[in-house]
Amino acid sequence: MPKDDEQSGLSRMLTLEIARVTEAAAVAASKLRGRGNEEAADQAAVDAMRRELNRLAINGRVVIGEGERDEAPMLYIGEEVGTGEGPDVDIAVDPLEGTTICAKALPNALAVVAIAKSGTLLHAPDIYMDKIAIGPGYEPGLVKLDAPAADNLNALAEAKGVPVAEITACILDRPRHAKLIEDVRAAGAAIRLIGDGDIAGVIHTTNPNETGIDIYIGIGGAPEGVLAAAALRCIGGQMQARLHPLNDQHRARAAAVGIENIDRIYTMEEMASGDVIFSATGVTDGSMLMGVKNRCGSIETETVVMRAATRTVRWIRTEHYTQGKFD
Ligand code: FBP
Repeated sequence: MPKDDEQSGLSRMLTLEIARVTEAAAVAASKLRGRGNEEAADQAAVDAMRRELNRLAINGRVVIGEGERDEAPMLYIGEEVGTGEGPDVDIAVDPLEGTTICAKALPNALAVVAIAKSGTLLHAPDIYMDKIAIGPGYEPGLVKLDAPAADNLNALAEAKGVPVAEITACILDRPRHAKLIEDVRAAGAAIRLIGDGDIAGVIHTTNPNETGIDIYIGIGGAPEGVLAAAALRCIGGQMQARLHPLNDQHRARAAAVGIENIDRIYTMEEMASGDVIFSATGVTDGSMLMGVKNRCGSIETETVVMRAATRTVRWIRTEHYTQGKFD
């Protein structure tokens, strides 16, 4: 094992193997694009992802999954995956990020997974999380979760050397964000409202020249928050987040996974503290990744795989011959 692997507990081979996991989930989900059946698309992705995870030489434990054991038949929190012969690792999965997007064949549905050294990913319950994220190159703490939107936008504009009118915030289009949307517009910034898919929303902040998005703000899923933090650890950027329970049941779920202080603000490094490998494959065409393409006799996928320890980002375009595969 090379030295970095000894320290992190992660094998370099995993950076290539992990691509197979999201490729399989994306291909499975792609068969249900535009069919209006979110559950079936999600289940197909879950089944395929689980199959591939179980082929990996890891002793994996799902810490971010498809819900709690009694609710989710597969890839539930606590489920063990892998051959059992390999490093102890935490697994965070979102086999189909954007179930509605996929069911409606809209852009940016992804299959996503992160693998990290055991004990280094935040064990977040499946509840909401308040998030703020920006890309790399800014002084730490430039934007703050609890600061007024105008302060964050002005600080970012100043650091970027542009007027605030040239800043674009990405926000999930939800009634709960009405006040936030009003505040961002009042501050003079533009907003890219997205219907779903805030992992991509956060990742988009890392490349504003291409995506046109400088900052992600708002409340989305906590599992998606941890996966987004894992991705940012690999590419660079900053993120702060806090769990956002809506009721006592949510608080109980947080307590059940070991959260002692529900009001705690987590930084990106606290959500993904060790070496982590992140992979996402496009299900539908998006601004980050091409969706699964059915060719004559083959299927083409596009995947991005990144690793925090080395900051390597690999873009993998794969042609899969379909005979007997993915059936
Ligand atoms: P699903 O793939 O589970 O449908 O999640 C899509 C998503 O948009 C996430 O990206 C986001 O974090 C979350 O839903 C927001 O939740 P809600 O739709 O309840 O506002």
